[in-house]
Amino acid sequence: MESIIITIDGPAGSGKSTTAKIVAELLGYIYVDSGAMYRAVTLATIRHKCETIEQIIHLLDSLHIELKMSPQGQRTFLNGEDISEEIREPIITSKVSFISSIKEVRTAMVDLQRKIGAKGSIVMDGRDIGTVVFPHAQLKIFMIASIHERAKRRLDQMKSKYSEHISDITEITEQITNRDYADSHREIDPLKPADDAIMLDTTGMSIQEQCDFIVKKAQQLIFIE
Ligand code: DC
Repeated sequence: MESIIITIDGPAGSGKSTTAKIVAELLGYIYVDSGAMYRAVTLATIRHKCETIEQIIHLLDSLHIELKMSPQGQRTFLNGEDISEEIREPIITSKVSFISSIKEVRTAMVDLQRKIGAKGSIVMDGRDIGTVVFPHAQLKIFMIASIHERAKRRLDQMKSKYSEHISDITEITEQITNRDYADSHREIDPLKPADDAIMLDTTGMSIQEQCDFIVKKAQQLIFIE
């Protein structure tokens, strides 16, 4: 098998994006952060002051979302503007679960994700990549980690950037718990492992160990089949 699709799903802070990025690099694959697309839509709805779902759906037609690779990693563009930093701000994080629960938003993003991944040689992370976007992917990983570890990782990550918005571990634990609940209880394409996903509990694992595990599985598929 020359090239495969690798999906990495899991809750916030489980280490998906860091791992997916390195795995893609090691395999010479393209890394796609599907959450960035939902964040881009969320930013657009804030900028356009959308107040109803109808307005959000209407806005979708005018959005052109692109993901481009750069030496610093994936950059996200909204109608030609690089919004890679802005979509990580806490205001976006607090609203993205709601925006991503809208059926029309999901349909548009899933279409885009399938187009990007059509040729294979891709590592895509998200919530429904193994269940909905690429149900026939050759390698599906579902990453989990204890809530404490996830909150600690997210806090460390955010402290460096947005320290003024984040008060303590209790606040971030609550935010992650709420987002997990919203993402896994939404009606359409909720966060859940695919039946054929490999469960990877990263609590206590180093990034290196997580990446080695996935790369090994991928190499078995790429070189043996
Ligand atoms: O991975 P992230 O934290 O950047 O994702 C932001 C949100 O986008 C997440 O709370 C749920 C949504 N999302 C989704 O519904 N489906 C995906 N494939 C990826 C993200």
